[in-house]
Order: sequence, then C-alpha cells, then structure tokens
Amino acid sequence: MYVRTDRFFLFQRLCWMVDLSVEIGGIKLNNPVMPASGTYEFSEQHKGFFPPSELGALVTKTIFTEPRHGNPPPRVWETPCGLLNSIGIPSEGVENFINFKLPYLRKIGPPLIVSIAENTVESFIQLCKKVEDTGQADMLELDLSCPNIQKGTEWSADEATLYRIVKSIKESTSLPVIAKLSPLVSDIGGMAQCAEEAGADAVSMINTIKGMAININKRKPAMGNKTGGLSGPAIHPLAVYAVYSSYKKIKIPIIGVGGISSWKDAVELILAGATAVGVGMYNFINPSAMKEIISGIEKYLKDNGFKSVKDITGLAVD
Ligand SMILES: Cc1cc2nc3c(=O)[nH]c(=O)nc-3n(C[C@H](O)[C@H](O)[C@H](O)COP(=O)(O)O)c2cc1C
Repeated sequence: MYVRTDRFFLFQRLCWMVDLSVEIGGIKLNNPVMPASGTYEFSEQHKGFFPPSELGALVTKTIFTEPRHGNPPPRVWETPCGLLNSIGIPSEGVENFINFKLPYLRKIGPPLIVSIAENTVESFIQLCKKVEDTGQADMLELDLSCPNIQKGTEWSADEATLYRIVKSIKESTSLPVIAKLSPLVSDIGGMAQCAEEAGADAVSMINTIKGMAININKRKPAMGNKTGGLSGPAIHPLAVYAVYSSYKKIKIPIIGVGGISSWKDAVELILAGATAVGVGMYNFINPSAMKEIISGIEKYLKDNGFKSVKDITGLAVD
C-alpha cells in the first residue's frame, strides 16, 4: 500500500512536470533565469539563500583587461521606484579574474557567461581571446551599453559602430556572443537587427538609463560621478517595449533585463519575446528573488496548461 501511494505521487508529479529549459547560442540552460551582470556576487554569503547551481546561467560582472577603480562615491542613490548607480565598473582585471574567480565560477555548474568591456575594438578582441583561451567560459556578453563609463553607451548608439564591434569580435572568437544593448536609441529593434546581422548569437536588453539626482541639502549632484544609470521597477516598461519591438525583427534569442521584481515581470518579458531573463537590482532587495522567480514561472506554466517555457515566448506579440 505504502509503495503504491508513493508511485501514485511520483506519477502525478511527472505528469505535472514542465520543461523550463531554453537555448542561447547553442547552449542549453536548465531554466531561463540568470542574474543581470554586476548585480549578483557568487559568494559564500549568497549560498545561504539558494545554491547558485539552480540558476539557468551565471553572468559575471563586466571585466576589463586592466584593474580599474570605478567611479568616486556616492555610487548608488535610491529613487522611489528604482536605483541610480554609478559604480563605473571597478574591475580586478582579467588576469586576476582568470586566476582567482573563474575556477570557482566554473565549478558551480550552470553555463558561464563572462561579461566584458573595453575602450577600443582591438583591446576588446584581445580581452575576448584571453577569456576564450582559458577554455572555461561558455559565452561572452559584450557590455556595449554602460552609461557610467567613458565610451560605455557609444558602442550601441549607432548601427555602424555596433556592427563593427560585434562583427570584429565574432570574427576573432569561437564563443557565442551576446550583445548587451542600450534602450537609449530611437529604434531598439533596428539595433537588435544590426547586432544579428553582425553575427551576434543573442542580444540582451536593457542596460541602465542615464539619470541624475540632486542632493538638496548639499545643493549639488547626489552622485560622485554626477550622473548614474537608472535600474529597477521604474525601467521595466521600457524593457518590455524593447523586447516586444525586437522580437519579430530578429531570429536570435533575446535575454530580457530590466526592472524584474517578481515572476510576473519575468513572465511578462517572456511573453513579449524574451527567451531568458536577467534579474538585476532586485537581487539586492531579495537575495532569494531568482529562486522564487524560477518557481513562479514554473507554477504559471502549470496553472495555465503549458508544457514548456518555450511555448510562451513571444506569445503576446502579434
Ligand atoms: C549596481 C549595478 C551594477 C551593474 N553593473 C553592470 C555591469 O558590470 N555590466 C553590465 O552590463 N550591466 C551592469 N548593470 C546593469 C544590469 O545588468 C541591468 O542591465 C540593469 O540594472 C537593469 O536591470 P534591473 O532593472 O533588473 O536592475 C549594473 C546594474 C546595477 C544596479
């Protein structure tokens, strides 16, 4: 009797299983949820909330070739519906990253996306090669859209520059390449198309949006760098629009990023056309958010009779 009951429950569970797996750049992710670059430290502290091995992919903070300090403080400023940050991408430099961080990240398990940035096409290519030569990275994400560094958003501000950087990198690496785009253009779908034509294997959108706050007591800009990038719930509708308006224009997968604070926001981006989603600022508020979002997507699929997350990608786009 005991055994039969057990089998019955197992059978019931199997009938209810939904497929959360997706594919980006020819690589299988067990589920569509990953951290947005720069917002999640794969440290021992985080392990207490949930094992990062449960994530669909790991995404590193953007690294540069040489060590960098980042911008002067204050580097973050809370707004009513989000966060301004002007971290300015401090980096330990690629050698330290390869020697000390990469081996640890590789052991965690899920596909590893290494985010990189540089100031010239040539140095971008050199950095790609350094990362690729380790044999430890599964994909590269090109940060072409950071509003807090010199030349950050310029890479994805016009089609000619975007095409040149993506094509040059694709010609010099065999790793799948994700182009991270800025929403600060008149036609984000056109930019996604341009990245695809240049050979990108996927696009991620959106990065933060340049903004500013004034400290009224000091009567001066609130942030050390004067301006910062806005993230969080305030930018979610911009991310939904960016994904929605790109979906029909390209065949490569979209990683939808921007203002996700619950599984509902993640499902919204998937319905708008995202194959996978990146959770950013909300990781600071709720370090278990990504785990809850994975379960929330799974429950949504079950409750609505879908067998696979792939069945709802772009379903809201006509
Ligand atoms: C503190 C902070 C640091 C970030 N660092 C990076 C970075 O190093 N590279 C990058 O491509 N994006 C970086 N971002 C942008 C996020 O990856 C993401 O695109 C953006 O925050 C929008 O998502 P969100 O609204 O969920 O935060 C950073 C964002 C924040 C808030």
